[in-house]
Amino acid sequence: MDRIEWVIANCRLLVAIGDELERTRPFAGLTIGTGIHLEPKTVALLLALRRGGAELVSTGNLNTTQADAVAYLREQGVQVVGGPTSDPAEHDANLRGVAAARPQLLLDNGGDLFALYLEDPWDGLLGGTEETTSGRMRLEPLRAQLNLPLLVINDSPIKQFAENEHAVGQSVLESFLRLTNKSTNGKRVTVFGYGACGRGVAANFRNAYAIVSVVEADPVKRLQALLDGFLVPDREEALRTADVVITVTGARDVVTAADEPLLKDGAVLANAGHFPFELDAPGLGAGGRVTVLEGGHMVNLAGPRPLGNSIESMDLGFALQTRCLEAVATGAVGPEACVVPVPRVIDEQVAAAFVVSA
Ligand SMILES: NC(=O)c1ccc[n+]([C@@H]2O[C@H](COP(=O)([O-])OP(=O)(O)OC[C@H]3O[C@@H](n4cnc5c(N)ncnc54)[C@H](O)[C@@H]3O)[C@@H](O)[C@H]2O)c1
Repeated sequence: MDRIEWVIANCRLLVAIGDELERTRPFAGLTIGTGIHLEPKTVALLLALRRGGAELVSTGNLNTTQADAVAYLREQGVQVVGGPTSDPAEHDANLRGVAAARPQLLLDNGGDLFALYLEDPWDGLLGGTEETTSGRMRLEPLRAQLNLPLLVINDSPIKQFAENEHAVGQSVLESFLRLTNKSTNGKRVTVFGYGACGRGVAANFRNAYAIVSVVEADPVKRLQALLDGFLVPDREEALRTADVVITVTGARDVVTAADEPLLKDGAVLANAGHFPFELDAPGLGAGGRVTVLEGGHMVNLAGPRPLGNSIESMDLGFALQTRCLEAVATGAVGPEACVVPVPRVIDEQVAAAFVVSA
């Protein structure tokens, strides 16, 4: 089976929701404008929305569009604006192409489409969804101007534990194994950051027989790591003893060239945080003693054949997306729900559907 078809078939929630939406048609007569990574799992999301009657006008994000996903969507008759690009100006033009269709619903990732709407509002926009924390932070101050239902997927507890904790931990371990072809058994692994993502990374490496320590800036989370059974040495000792260092904090300059003399010969460093600036990859790599995987770019999305997070975790997140767009389309939420988390009733509905079919 082709990879895209494999992913679509394994998005069990989206398949079932698509079956239902084909009967209820909540998006009949509506256009949904989308600006989200175009890869196999988002193909499954977009096709489920279309089964609910939506016309789709879609574009990807900077750097992450996969050409085979675009080709597949076009074959299925979905309108995709532009293709893979790392040029911000081209990407901006693509987003404007989506806004030009004057969609009634927006599925946004980073707040770009809603920002374009505020620049040049059009009639008939009912509202939509925002996938990320960064988009939430951008749109929160604009609530009064937006005055539309706009549900933030990242703030669902399901997204927090299913994706950030479990899926990121698994995919970072999978990426380490795939990129280095080294074992984890008995290796000393230091994880910087013990938020949702760090907890999952630490747990997955421990489950792969590594000796895991955690360096965490927040004393309360450091205590949590200790009670979870991880070593919590001070930063310097953690760096001196590590065979593998993984940063996943969201902060800048977590490990820099100044730390290089502390590191063991042959130490491997990787970043799983959103931005590569957690690790000073050129500075650390300059002496040729240690290796920074993929230049410090998100290790589970970089390098050859990146798979990203598991199908199941994305199926859950995209089921939330679909149900939230349905709630906006059908008027189940109103403008009072502007830049707010996923309604509890939707979290419960999606969780129950997953458990029942597990
Ligand atoms: N790779 C992926 O697929 C993926 C998926 C989701 C999120 N992320 C990214 O992972 C990062 C972490 O996300 P999260 O949800 O765990 O965030 P979080 O805010 O829950 O946790 C981050 C933790 O890092 C700690 N921290 C900050 N600076 C530190 C430092 N210098 N040293 C040690 N600890 C420090 C904070 O105290 C906090 O506990 C973010 O950049 C997020 O965007 C990546």
